Amino acid sequence: MLKTTGIDLFTYSVLGSTNDEAKRLAGQGTRGPLVIWTTRQVRGRGRARKNWIGMPGNLMASLLLHPGRVLAEAGSMALVAGLAVTDYARTLGVDARIKWPNDVLVGDAKLAGVLVEASSGNDELNWMVIGIGLNLAVAPVLGRQTACIGYEVKLEVALDQVIESVLRRYRQWLCGGFLVLRDEWLERAAWLGRSVRIRNRLGAVEGIIRTVDANGALIVCDSAGVEHFLFSGEIVPLEVQCC
Ligand code: BTN
Repeated sequence: MLKTTGIDLFTYSVLGSTNDEAKRLAGQGTRGPLVIWTTRQVRGRGRARKNWIGMPGNLMASLLLHPGRVLAEAGSMALVAGLAVTDYARTLGVDARIKWPNDVLVGDAKLAGVLVEASSGNDELNWMVIGIGLNLAVAPVLGRQTACIGYEVKLEVALDQVIESVLRRYRQWLCGGFLVLRDEWLERAAWLGRSVRIRNRLGAVEGIIRTVDANGALIVCDSAGVEHFLFSGEIVPLEVQCC
């Protein structure tokens, strides 16, 4: 059981993916809230079928929840969980920012990632899994910049505090949706005003990142002044812009 929140904790010495294990339990009818935590994850997954490299000493955990909401609302949960991870990092004095939709950055280096997966029937959410990978001790060497918290933080303590932050933001989201968190999210947003290309399964859009709307959709303004509302996608910077 987690100390601060009293939530059930399932601990594993090694797992393929904490999200997969949380989904397996949910599929068997196990009710949340509960947390799956491992210190070694061998098939960690990120968004867009990317791998997640979880180095020893880093945090890899998934929270299973049953929000009882419609599926459309789940889209903003990655943003909400990202905000919660910045809450935690900021308690340690780390200037963490959120890159839409699910990256937590320090400068341009990735500190953490969030993977939200959900199951629904008749548009109702059956369950939702919020997976969090946070580079606590080690910044993995990858083909992109990465960061880590870098303080001597005990993993158990970090887990407890990160989950507490996520649940605090989750409760706010349950009461008022993403709308009530939007201003704080924007205050911590990375890459606003930046010129980017965003690719998703519908194609690609180039433009300047303006803001996010009340549902968490990214609003990008192209060179013709047309606003595009994006619900998913990978952002690639085109050049550094002043806003
Ligand atoms: C991303 O950056 O695209 C999201 C990365 C999410 C990684 C975490 S680690 C714990 C949980 N289990 C997984 O397999 N993925 C998430």
